Amino acid sequence: MSGPDDRAGDYGFVVVASRLPVDRVEEADGGTSWRPSPGGLVAALEPVMRKADGVWVGWTGGAGPELGAFEAGGLQLFGVGLSAEQVRGHYEGFCNATLWPLYHDVIAQPVFDRDWWDRYQEVNRRFARAAAGLAAPGATIWVHDYQLQLVPRMIREQRSDVRIGFFNHIPFPCYEIFAQLPWRRQVVGGLLGADLLGFQRRNDAGNFLRASRRAWGALTRGSTVRPERGRQVRPVRAAAFPISVDSAALEQIARQQEVTARAREIRDLLGDPDLVLLGIDRLDYTKGILHRLNAYGELLSEGRLGPRTVLVQVASPSRERVEAYRALRDEVEVTVSRINGEHAELGSPPVHYLHQTYPREEMAALYLAADVMLVTPLRDGMNLVSKEYVASRYDENGTLVLSEFTGAADELGGAFLVNPYDTEGLKGAIVRAATIGRAEARRRMRAMRRRVAEYDVAHWAATFLEALNQAPTGDSASGGAAPG
Ligand code: G6P
Repeated sequence: MSGPDDRAGDYGFVVVASRLPVDRVEEADGGTSWRPSPGGLVAALEPVMRKADGVWVGWTGGAGPELGAFEAGGLQLFGVGLSAEQVRGHYEGFCNATLWPLYHDVIAQPVFDRDWWDRYQEVNRRFARAAAGLAAPGATIWVHDYQLQLVPRMIREQRSDVRIGFFNHIPFPCYEIFAQLPWRRQVVGGLLGADLLGFQRRNDAGNFLRASRRAWGALTRGSTVRPERGRQVRPVRAAAFPISVDSAALEQIARQQEVTARAREIRDLLGDPDLVLLGIDRLDYTKGILHRLNAYGELLSEGRLGPRTVLVQVASPSRERVEAYRALRDEVEVTVSRINGEHAELGSPPVHYLHQTYPREEMAALYLAADVMLVTPLRDGMNLVSKEYVASRYDENGTLVLSEFTGAADELGGAFLVNPYDTEGLKGAIVRAATIGRAEARRRMRAMRRRVAEYDVAHWAATFLEALNQAPTGDSASGGAAPG
């Protein structure tokens, strides 16, 4: 194991995430540049990165050579390069056709492919090598999400002096499901290289603790895992840290005059309906889009929503090279057509379906234009759309129908909670959310807004990093403290 002296870099804080927080911009002269892509995670980590000499290690989203270190919008970045074969095997294959369905309760059938597993290990090694080479002695390294579960141990093997945190943004499944993974032991072992493991819900942390006992043979006590029996004992903590959004920034966007005006314009464009329902999701089979559409179709057939009702469904393109996503797109589009075919009058379809991605301002205008937001995932680690909606509703209007299978359901008590598989229950909740009195709606929205304002993404990052700072590290020589 090498010490800090021969391997260390200059950065006191290293974020390791599958994706870089930038988008490629094609310049008129044929060159490319990078524009920061605004998102909650960057917003939360940017101040920490600035204070602690931070660097963000990630991938650009396409096949290509290693970009190495560069700067964009004041952020220090390090671009890891992946070959076309690695993109296919690691990203499209193991991440999106194995782990994603497995961790989301096998809503879709996971594919277990040994070549993909090899690519997963290869790519994780690449990220780990980059991070280990950039971290200063005693630095803090924060690894993110299911694409990089082997990275904590791989870093640990190169650098015993650093503090390593890992946060899983998606659910961690119960052991009976996780156990299907042929490489379950290696994945648990990879994660146990960290000092602190963060999950969205207590249940996820509990599922991981059980997996570490069953697949790794670790001892656990409360939220602490003792991974190495008999050897020098390095405890690992596994606990819940529910992620959130940059509430103040979202509210500020929503309050812009142009955004408020656009919200009114959207309602006009929709034909000034009495009731606007809204769904905004990545086009993903975990989101329950079909369940929602079917419930809506039935409500229209039964005449329970009034004739002047529209549903705006934004489904942003996602993972389009993965088979299950192509199949879902077809099914959603057939369903939308069927509902519109059955219920539209000329010039006024009851579903406005938008297979597009929008800038934050347009999203905020859509949130403000809605009467009822429909968030009906079959399984979702957190679901930030529901929190974005709440943060944007500075007018305290609008109601939320929210699946109990989201992390957000633990926090947003003012929502109408639903089991999306229960079509009658879902229909009833939509009708209630659309018809409750203004005062009751306001009371619910206010309670949710208080929660989201206090527990925002900065609070999440600070809480995680503080816990990481307090985690006893394996190497007693470790002098570093996590940045606050
Ligand atoms: C989820 C995951 C993220 C992922 C995002 C978009 O939110 O937790 O890690 O980046 O989906 O998916 P994509 O495959 O486009 O990165």
